Amino acid sequence: MHIKKIFVTGWNWFIGRHLIKHLLKKKYSVVSFDNSYRWDSKILLDTIKNLNISNFKSIEWDISDKWLVDGLIKTCDIVVHLAWISQVITSISNPSLTFEYNVNWLSNIIDACVRNNKKIIFASSREVYWNAEYFPVDINHRLKPENIYWESKVLWEKMIKSTSDNSNLDYTILRLSNVYWQGDKWRVVPILIEKSINNEPITIYWDYKILDLVHISDVINAFMACIEKQESSKQVFNIWSGKKITLHELVKLILEIVWSKSNVINSSWRLWEVDYFLADITETERIINWKPKKQILKLKNIVKSYF
Ligand SMILES: NC(=O)c1ccc[n+]([C@@H]2O[C@H](COP(=O)([O-])OP(=O)(O)OC[C@H]3O[C@@H](n4cnc5c(N)ncnc54)[C@H](O)[C@@H]3O)[C@@H](O)[C@H]2O)c1
Repeated sequence: MHIKKIFVTGWNWFIGRHLIKHLLKKKYSVVSFDNSYRWDSKILLDTIKNLNISNFKSIEWDISDKWLVDGLIKTCDIVVHLAWISQVITSISNPSLTFEYNVNWLSNIIDACVRNNKKIIFASSREVYWNAEYFPVDINHRLKPENIYWESKVLWEKMIKSTSDNSNLDYTILRLSNVYWQGDKWRVVPILIEKSINNEPITIYWDYKILDLVHISDVINAFMACIEKQESSKQVFNIWSGKKITLHELVKLILEIVWSKSNVINSSWRLWEVDYFLADITETERIINWKPKKQILKLKNIVKSYF
């Protein structure tokens, strides 16, 4: 089937805006939904200016509205589900809100996809593995949800797969590692940069934690491969950069680059954080011909990207 019109949930913050910009540039039509849980209309205007916005319809609403979701999905060729309370720390400090946003409405989307025979592309996370038992982690590694954020990702994955086993539902699940680039806030890289620039104290939780920062353009390419390639049907893929950096190295480099006078306070590790991740992407490469292109982490460019 030739895909022309895409339904994107949770489009109005980090990954969603980059994806929409790319889709509109590629002449797709986009219908989108966001409940403005994270909202910044100025960034929205910056994102879509110079693009053909007649191809873009955005609705400020919640995915709790079953019939609206169904009606919109009916008019589109494929669904990309990004909407989420995506900060682990927000999730675990507010489990009932997380349950309401991340879990309660899952059947609205999945049922609408089944009813209207539309494929769903779901943004999952490397966190479903928590601290893995072996490396590199392949997609058959056991899933170990240890808190409401991970639990809700695993639940979505299971719902999608079991529904698909008993219906015509087509899907692709992308387990993303830490995505970085401009347009994000309140995650490790933007927090470190902002604090360094303002010479504010930086608290780090176990500085030998190993991060895997995957560039947004690689992530967008992965979504595009799942939209455009039939081979992505009913598959789960790991998406990561292939390059490790310790938190200690990251902080040191950022401080040097911005000539910061910030004090670094070392604290103990936080139970809900993944300490180390190294993914096997052999299948991602073999099946959809995706591999990260931004292999070399150029920290200077990362820092500049946030200005
Ligand atoms: N950014 C990362 O590093 C990363 C890593 C792994 C997985 N992911 C996943 O990718 C997806 C997108 O991530 P992101 O970084 O763009 O997140 P984000 O927080 O920047 O954007 C999520 C958007 O969803 C919206 N939203 C939340 N609940 C909603 C609801 N019930 N109805 C409608 N809109 C709702 C929010 O307003 C927000 O605009 C999420 O599912 C996230 O868990 C992201």
